[in-house]
Amino acid sequence: MSGFVEKPEPIQVPGLVHLHTGKVRELYRNEAGDLVMVASDRISAYDWVLPTEIPDKGRVLTQLSLWWFDQLTDLVPHHVLSTELPAGAPADWEGRTLVCKSLRMAPVECVARGYLTGSGLAEYQESRTVCGLALPEGLVDGSELPGPIFTPATKAAVGEHDENVSYEEVARQVGADTAAQLRQATLAAYTRARDIARERGIILADTKFEFGFDGDTLVVADEVLTPDSSRFWPAEQWEPGHAQPSYDKQYVRDWLTSAESGWDRASEQPPPALPQHVVDATRAKYVEAYERLTGLGWS
Ligand SMILES: Nc1ncnc2c1ncn2[C@@H]1O[C@H](COP(=O)(O)OP(=O)(O)OP(=O)(O)O)[C@@H](O)[C@H]1O
Ligand SMILES: [Mg+2]
Repeated sequence: MSGFVEKPEPIQVPGLVHLHTGKVRELYRNEAGDLVMVASDRISAYDWVLPTEIPDKGRVLTQLSLWWFDQLTDLVPHHVLSTELPAGAPADWEGRTLVCKSLRMAPVECVARGYLTGSGLAEYQESRTVCGLALPEGLVDGSELPGPIFTPATKAAVGEHDENVSYEEVARQVGADTAAQLRQATLAAYTRARDIARERGIILADTKFEFGFDGDTLVVADEVLTPDSSRFWPAEQWEPGHAQPSYDKQYVRDWLTSAESGWDRASEQPPPALPQHVVDATRAKYVEAYERLTGLGWS
């Protein structure tokens, strides 16, 4: 079991058609045919959307994604048209709503990895490959790879995990030219972001991009380089050989797996509400990530 403890009712706004409730975001279409993406304060851990929200998370991640889109524009254009609130939208959508160009999406989760962990590590331990790419011997959880690699995945149905696929499989699905474009853009954007984060004491272990096409032009869509789409590790605590602390969710994970929470991860029971001190510490980590990465103050 996984997913929502209780799926939220989407807010209805005149002129907007609600399309989709994601784990974290609500998706609408406006009358011009553009997408309206609204990031909530929901947080997920261990495949569950938790029953407790993290105040300001939606705004922090939206502003972080916008900042990153800007850092990447010379590499690839992005899909954001406006940050203006649609007429009639609730005032609290401010800062966490993006009006985006509706694109023909490539059906591939474009993951770049510079470090080995998660599903990459699992495949490596079986076959010394990730997405079919051969890697050197002797790598452990958290090891830096010789260079960044493109490890695509296919989008899974709701409640299921994305499945890693080989580059050849992507080329079969989208064509060789598009596959090459996706790989090139993914690795260029990852490398740019990795270097920016590294200067600021944060390791960007891996990240996922989603691309679409506006006519023939490749455009980066969805959200980029947020803690929800990326693994950020505090550089000063990096120590290969075991799971690295997560920049944003470590307090949540530690508390959920502690005796205090009373929750058994294996039980298939939904996780309990987070106590205030975990909420506060987690909010502070999101703000810290934003401030460290962008060099800007969070108001
Ligand atoms: N510019 C765009 N044009 C068309 N579709 C887009 C664009 N940007 C993002 N999308 C799509 O919008 C959807 C956003 O959904 P969202 O990420 O909130 O939920 P999800 O992907 O179903 O689940 P999860 O919460 O696990 O990410 C995704 O299907 C994404 O591919
Ligand atoms: Mg998504």
